[in-house]
Amino acid sequence: MSGNDLGPALATDDDRVEPAAVDRQAGFDRLIAADERLEPRDWMPEGYRKTLIRQIAQHAHSEIIGMQPEGNWITRAPSLRRKAILMAKVQDEAGHGLYLYSAAETLGVDRADLLDLLHAGRQKYSSIFNYPTLTWADIGAIGWLVDGAAIVNQVPLCRCSYGPYARAMVRICKEESFHQRQGFEILHTLSHGTPEQHEMAQDAVDRWWWPSLMMFGPPDEASPHSAQSMAWGIKKHSNDELRQRFVDMTLPQAHVLGLTVPDQDLRYDEESGHWRFGPIDWAEFHAVLKGQGPCNAQRMEHRRRAHDEGAWVREAAVAYAEKQAQREASGAAA
Ligand SMILES: [Fe+2]
Ligand SMILES: [Fe+2]
Repeated sequence: MSGNDLGPALATDDDRVEPAAVDRQAGFDRLIAADERLEPRDWMPEGYRKTLIRQIAQHAHSEIIGMQPEGNWITRAPSLRRKAILMAKVQDEAGHGLYLYSAAETLGVDRADLLDLLHAGRQKYSSIFNYPTLTWADIGAIGWLVDGAAIVNQVPLCRCSYGPYARAMVRICKEESFHQRQGFEILHTLSHGTPEQHEMAQDAVDRWWWPSLMMFGPPDEASPHSAQSMAWGIKKHSNDELRQRFVDMTLPQAHVLGLTVPDQDLRYDEESGHWRFGPIDWAEFHAVLKGQGPCNAQRMEHRRRAHDEGAWVREAAVAYAEKQAQREASGAAA
């Protein structure tokens, strides 16, 4: 569905008269109001485009930085089976990064520039990846809680107003649900193993619980861009709504795991049917966001090094693409 394709059905691009600005805005508004998808060729307000670029880039950066804490355990996974699963999962995250950089490029930016912005510290990635993975149980806690929170955040994005982003999210969410299940299974095995294994699982959940709740972003009253993103159909639910949904979904699973979450204020509210949780330490969230988390410097240093070391691969890929294009051109001319 196109928002500004107002010309006659058979018109070529050359014939098409640019619709007046007011018509373009009206076309955009109509599409958003009808909850339809906007495509790259459609006209869109500059603010909408910029917001999407920022959000999709931040999302893409999070996928590739998110490979680091788990990559840390590939060589130390406790069995061949666990190693194979973890490698597949970490590769999935690289794939998510690629879908998302591609989606961002449909908005007229180059992924090389987005990576430069990340490396210069001018674009962010999710703060959750600035925490360390201290034991094997952390791999379980990340899958269960971090991928679990990502799913709750991302399922509504499958219906967001920008088509390429929405379609990327459909694929990503399918893989994320596998990630969440594998994390749950790791924790379930540990929790029902020896007392030491149970303790290791509980310790990991104790450390990852609050940072996972912070993944939904600041509380609604402190989230200045949310209202505009919701009006544009990019965001479908508020941060606090999604956080509550995550808590309600996760606590019955904690019960099955035989693990607890580190919150003394936690109680089930019969009347509303929701779990009520204690206050979140937003000072910690802002400190990690500002670069003072336990692993911020390490993550960025590793990312820059990986980028530099991969320069020859990018050069080779470009040279190969150019050669293929030349062959095709000379083939077409013959
Ligand atoms: Fe992912
Ligand atoms: Fe994932």
